[in-house]
Amino acid sequence: MRVYKIDDYVLKYRIGHPFETEAVIRDGEEIEKNTMDYFKISQATKLRLIYKMNTDDIVLGLGENQRGINKRGGIYESYCTDDPNHTPDKKSLYGAHNFLIVDGAETFGVFIDYPGRVTFDVGFTHKDYLEIIVDDNNLDIYIINGNNLKEIVKSFLKLVGQCYVPPKWAFGYQQCRWSYEDAAEVENIADSFIKNDIPCDAIYLDIDYMEDFKDFTISHERFPNFKAFVEKMKKKGFRLIPIIDAGVKIEKGYDVYEEGVANDFFCVDQDGKPFVGAVWPGRVHFPDFLNPEARKWFGLKYKTLLDCGIEGFWNDMNEPAIFYTDRGLNKAIKKAKKSEDENLNIYSFFELKDTFIKISNNLEDYKSFYHKVKGELVNHDKVHNLYGYNMTRAAAEGFEEIKPNKRVLIFSRSSYIGMHRYSGIWTGDNHSWWDHILLNIKMMPSLNMCGFLYSGADTGGFNGDANAELVTRWTQFSIFTPLFRNHSAMGTRNQEPFAFDEESKEIMKRAIELRYAIIPYIYSEYMKAVINWEVYFAPLVFEYDDEMSRKTEDQLLVGDSIMISPIYQENVTGRYVWVPEDMLLWKVKKYSDREYEIVKKGHRYLNVEIKEIPVFIRKNKMLILGKHAKNVESIDNRQLDIIAFIEDKTSYIYYDDDGKTYDFKKGKYSEIAIEIEKADGEFKINIDNRGNEKVQRLNFDICPFAKALIRAIFLKEKEKLYEKEKQWNFNAYYIFT
Ligand code: NOJ
Repeated sequence: MRVYKIDDYVLKYRIGHPFETEAVIRDGEEIEKNTMDYFKISQATKLRLIYKMNTDDIVLGLGENQRGINKRGGIYESYCTDDPNHTPDKKSLYGAHNFLIVDGAETFGVFIDYPGRVTFDVGFTHKDYLEIIVDDNNLDIYIINGNNLKEIVKSFLKLVGQCYVPPKWAFGYQQCRWSYEDAAEVENIADSFIKNDIPCDAIYLDIDYMEDFKDFTISHERFPNFKAFVEKMKKKGFRLIPIIDAGVKIEKGYDVYEEGVANDFFCVDQDGKPFVGAVWPGRVHFPDFLNPEARKWFGLKYKTLLDCGIEGFWNDMNEPAIFYTDRGLNKAIKKAKKSEDENLNIYSFFELKDTFIKISNNLEDYKSFYHKVKGELVNHDKVHNLYGYNMTRAAAEGFEEIKPNKRVLIFSRSSYIGMHRYSGIWTGDNHSWWDHILLNIKMMPSLNMCGFLYSGADTGGFNGDANAELVTRWTQFSIFTPLFRNHSAMGTRNQEPFAFDEESKEIMKRAIELRYAIIPYIYSEYMKAVINWEVYFAPLVFEYDDEMSRKTEDQLLVGDSIMISPIYQENVTGRYVWVPEDMLLWKVKKYSDREYEIVKKGHRYLNVEIKEIPVFIRKNKMLILGKHAKNVESIDNRQLDIIAFIEDKTSYIYYDDDGKTYDFKKGKYSEIAIEIEKADGEFKINIDNRGNEKVQRLNFDICPFAKALIRAIFLKEKEKLYEKEKQWNFNAYYIFT
């Protein structure tokens, strides 16, 4: 074991000769040390790390996974898996996010940088032990120290690099379905948004836009003159977002296939021939994304669609999902034939059935192909979790070359830490189940801790039929997720906001309008989180140290100013909420209606009618909002509203930038710093505009005040005074001159 000091908080323990995952972006100096902090370590064929947990320890992180924000009591496996049944017993979903934090008697983070299978047994086998089992003895382990959860996350995010930033329009509402099959159907959906006056920024093209499911092709039958269609839709206000799959169809004459074969860009089998698996188009080869040349080649292929005016993509089936291989299929068929004349009993029938079930995504298949890395063959199983990461990296690197300095929307299904620098993720094939709203709520902060800030789930649920209430409540939660997309599977009931009754449509419309109105806040908080190595979604325990906040799993802090308590149960008109300090509650039915109430610290039962979205503004914090429009680019935010809940003093930095380029990395962004101080019946408001040329006026709603007369004094200007009669919230405004 060699130990490296990355900085005062982070140590790297290198064991054996790890595969270079490029998850981490920082290096350290080797130091003298031969024991590992916190863990007992044992090495045999597998490596085991053991930590004895205290009764009150909580364990956070692990990104895209089942169960709670507190991962205690569960067992999780990092092995990216295409499993569309996200039931609580599942150990693996699509991502491998090997970072967790133990918080209690000792507080520390651990990141296991190993791209094959890793098991996290968080008190499942033995309730008091955290055991991490790695299928290998070649890996890097990072131990991260810090005084609290926020510090540890910050150190970790600095270690793995700055999170991806999508274009600003990608913070708008997005509509997907597998599939809107042809141009007429896509246009009809767009027209329905227009007719119903519901804001929307993007409509998705699932696999049926392609010709025979071949990447970088377009079905001219279903989408004649694609480029003109993309343009037409843009004029109507919608961007089209096509899907790209990992597998490349084996078909003579298909350029991607021909070039891949000619240049040795595909993964190979044990005989050195391109490995054959099957996905949507039937038999495919899988590009070897671990080979930088293959990555470059595939990344530049996106140009075909970028040239048609496309500005965003989603990368799918990149675990990679394998429906079958000839090996698996033949084995099952043989077994079935052999069973033809047998009287199958409980054992033999289930054995047969299992053989068929196990055809897809079979471990034997993953073990039977190879990547070429620096001239060496590397078995896929050992680096399985890097596949989706590098497919998506290929895309992002391609965009950078084709459209330098332009933000392109990209998110992936499969991922590994490191990919967050290149792309966002969505959480795959959930169900239209109430439990999956709750899972979505719990997953968001866990993903954020692992660096994936641009993320969201299929709103309304992908598999199964949704009813109006479920889609409504889910939409009311998703208005806070950076990626806000409604998606549903083939054969299920349509679930666009207008697919239901008039009343539900109106309620969803109001929720989506609220989303657009708070984009100034959402975008500002997202960007500040990216720049300052912070999370956008946090569990309450990040800010409050009381016992209840440690245990609360169904309320979240969104950015620095607000807390949300979504409804995730059917047929209810309220819920219990833990209010960790006095807060200002705004139950939003329509964002232009402003009615607030102060909710005192404690346990509260909150009535939440189907029309209502409760937003809690934290003490001494401000929420900033503007107006909705048909899409993000049409928003007119020359005037912004500020809702402030003030005990004594508060400050807020409103961030904005061009929303289109990466110039913010060179410091090209604007800030408006707002400070409000309350003393003796006066509010002193100090506004410092650092380069924002868009905002012309700020309107303040300040709560609470008790006195009959109140004055707001804007500093940095000749004093402007506003005096008002008794009223418990106070309005003032500020005009930039
Ligand atoms: C699986 C993806 O998870 C889903 O979102 C998509 O609709 C289907 N593949 C079809 O492309």
